[in-house]
Amino acid sequence: MTQRKIEITSPTFIDAWKLPTQQNLALLFPTQQPLALEIGCGIGDFIIQRAAQQPHINFIAIDIYNKGCYKTCRRIDTSALTNVRVMRMEARYLLSQFGHADMLSAIYINCPDPWPKKRHRSRRLVSHTFLTQMLYYLKPQGDLYFVTDVENYAQQVAETLSTLDGYTNQLDCCYTNQLNDYPQSKYMRRFAKQGLPVYFQHHRRDAQFTLHAHMLPATTMGFRNRHTLEVK
Ligand SMILES: C[S@@+](CC[C@H](N)C(=O)[O-])C[C@H]1O[C@@H](n2cnc3c(N)ncnc32)[C@H](O)[C@@H]1O
Repeated sequence: MTQRKIEITSPTFIDAWKLPTQQNLALLFPTQQPLALEIGCGIGDFIIQRAAQQPHINFIAIDIYNKGCYKTCRRIDTSALTNVRVMRMEARYLLSQFGHADMLSAIYINCPDPWPKKRHRSRRLVSHTFLTQMLYYLKPQGDLYFVTDVENYAQQVAETLSTLDGYTNQLDCCYTNQLNDYPQSKYMRRFAKQGLPVYFQHHRRDAQFTLHAHMLPATTMGFRNRHTLEVK
């Protein structure tokens, strides 16, 4: 059965498909301040708390899930937050359209689709190519947070990060089960209730490292993108 696509009329929602090419995303906010991105915001639990913790940062929260974007917007609209904008778009596509070097002070990826079966692992969002691309979009000393409930995903990302020049681990180990002041997303809360661990990683782009545009790996749209315009 096809679900009805919910129309989102909220002032927090940006219809990215209507933006001019190369729109500067920083200009979507009333106040000019550093810009951070959450990829796969779900229904907004994390971004609402983070944006309240960090009013001096503007946040773009994206998801390909129509109902998730709708719910996130509704929750933001009933809060006093003015530093969040929500877009319904695939992460790599958004960055390929509107991304530029050094634009993001932080990138958050919380409990991305796990693709637990071995034969589906190539569908995972966070890969060598993706992490290299993020070095281009992150500012010098910009933060990359990756949280997953799947230990082999955590291991895969930790191994890839350890082989990539340009990132420095901000933890004492590859990953940890607790990160102070880090808000819980819906999935994190669900796993905690079930007594299941999640694995946090926090890396920072080295101040001296530069990835030039011509070294930026080509964007492949990813498995999920096929569904972007369909209702989900
Ligand atoms: C497992 S849910 C986690 C939601 C939320 N981050 C949390 O922790 O509660 C993963 C979310 O990421 C979204 N998603 C998956 N791939 C994406 C992509 N390539 N770009 C944007 N969103 C994506 C899905 O639609 C889904 O809402």
